[in-house]
Amino acid sequence: MSDPMRGWYDDAAVRGQRRRILHEDRERGLVLFPEKEIPYLGHEAVVALAPAARDALVARHLYQYLLYTVHLETKVVNRGVAMVANDEADYAIAPQTRLDAFKIYCDEGYHAMFNLDVVQQIERATGVASLPYDFRPRLDRLDHTAHRFFPEHPRLGRLLQVAVFETVVTATLADLPRDPTVYRVVRDVVGDHARDEAHHHAFFVRFFRETWTHLTAGQRVAVARALPHLIDDCLRPDVATIRRSLIAAGLPAPVAADVVADCYAEPAVRAVIRRSARHTLALADSVGALDLPGVRDIVGELGLAR
Ligand SMILES: [Fe+2]
Ligand SMILES: [Fe+2]
Repeated sequence: MSDPMRGWYDDAAVRGQRRRILHEDRERGLVLFPEKEIPYLGHEAVVALAPAARDALVARHLYQYLLYTVHLETKVVNRGVAMVANDEADYAIAPQTRLDAFKIYCDEGYHAMFNLDVVQQIERATGVASLPYDFRPRLDRLDHTAHRFFPEHPRLGRLLQVAVFETVVTATLADLPRDPTVYRVVRDVVGDHARDEAHHHAFFVRFFRETWTHLTAGQRVAVARALPHLIDDCLRPDVATIRRSLIAAGLPAPVAADVVADCYAEPAVRAVIRRSARHTLALADSVGALDLPGVRDIVGELGLAR
């Protein structure tokens, strides 16, 4: 199989992509985020808000997506990628794989930087400030799951977190770059990111399969059982941040809580998670992980079964 990071020196955004700059005259009539992808925008309490408050909600929804990525890249993905690059997994990492991991490390640092750059450019252009982003609850949840399934192998837990994040495919990353209703600068940066991530995806499919061959029978069961939980930890929407944004738009706290409850009902949330997780679950299935004892029950309990 060819090396998924082979073309990195020529293709990676960090190697050749010029800075993406917001030009207000190119963005007229466009939206900051696909409005159909914002579940609460059609809620009657939100429809009743003034247009400026609704625009600010859309801006903050975009910021939330971009800032989630900033934290994720630097606090979860690069934490695990650095372990691969430095040959600190529980088995010997091949020399080429170590170099590829450092390429990914550079990519993720650049993704974090250009996402924050775009947040700041849009804040200046629109006058809508981002709210403080608290990544700690998600990181705690991910680390809690890793510790629960791998109390003796913390490295394995951290590597698995990365393998999950790097193989799920969210609708935003897949579809937003081609959405003609969205700000060009937003389409451009998300498209730059998606192109790099296609290579990372291929790398981590290979890496997961390679890691699997080094696991004991007991570790395989733990990995297979942890995966659905890590998928949920990774993809579950951050409703606390959404609630804060609704309150900032002028909704009283109890109304904001009702809007979130109405628009993020569990079946709807699970349908979105299931869709984004399908490649990761197919990867697990390809090594036989889903057929290990108890695994399909967990997949079903978390609403991930197709
Ligand atoms: Fe990335
Ligand atoms: Fe990545």
